Amino acid sequence: MVIKKIAVLFSGSGSNLEAILEKVHAKVFNGVLIEVALLITNKSDAFGIQRAKNFGLDTLVVNHKDFKSREDFDARLVKEITNANIDLTVLAGFMRILTPVFTDQILAINLHPSILPLFKGANAINDSYNSDMALGGVSVHYVSSELDAGKIIKQRAFEREKDMSLKEWEAKIHSIEHEILPEVIVEILTK
Ligand code: GAR
Repeated sequence: MVIKKIAVLFSGSGSNLEAILEKVHAKVFNGVLIEVALLITNKSDAFGIQRAKNFGLDTLVVNHKDFKSREDFDARLVKEITNANIDLTVLAGFMRILTPVFTDQILAINLHPSILPLFKGANAINDSYNSDMALGGVSVHYVSSELDAGKIIKQRAFEREKDMSLKEWEAKIHSIEHEILPEVIVEILTK
């Protein structure tokens, strides 16, 4: 049996981490066992830590504020990921800008709550909701040194319903995220 290890990095609620743990962790796809082998957060109060505990998994807290520079923080992440023999790193709501120290060494994918290249940055849900777009959506892309700009792997869009509230918009995005991110992980690790 081939075993593929993933690392998941998150900063907050961790609903996407939970989707990965439910749909992918410790499961076999096409003869490949996928294991969430490393969890890292930069926030000691991230709710995702609790979600991971519910699956019996511990999370390593690496607080970016403990480092002198972005590069030093990234070097620590690289060390942890490399030591754990990770095949694929997944950024699931990891709200840090990564430098080439990370992006040149680590194969990583990122989840973004818009149809890239539209609405890059940390406020994509609000920005896309407040736009004139009749479509919203979600992207998964490879991580590169340019923010939210690496090669797009998969996108899924939805139509704006009449009088859709921001809450409904956000809920739609999250429900798509919880499908598309596990799908991409399996696709990459089983091909
Ligand atoms: C998700 O909507 C993800 O797309 C977004 O953070 C949220 C994390 O939710 N990421 C970005 O905006 C990256 N620029 P979660 O903590 O519940 O998984």
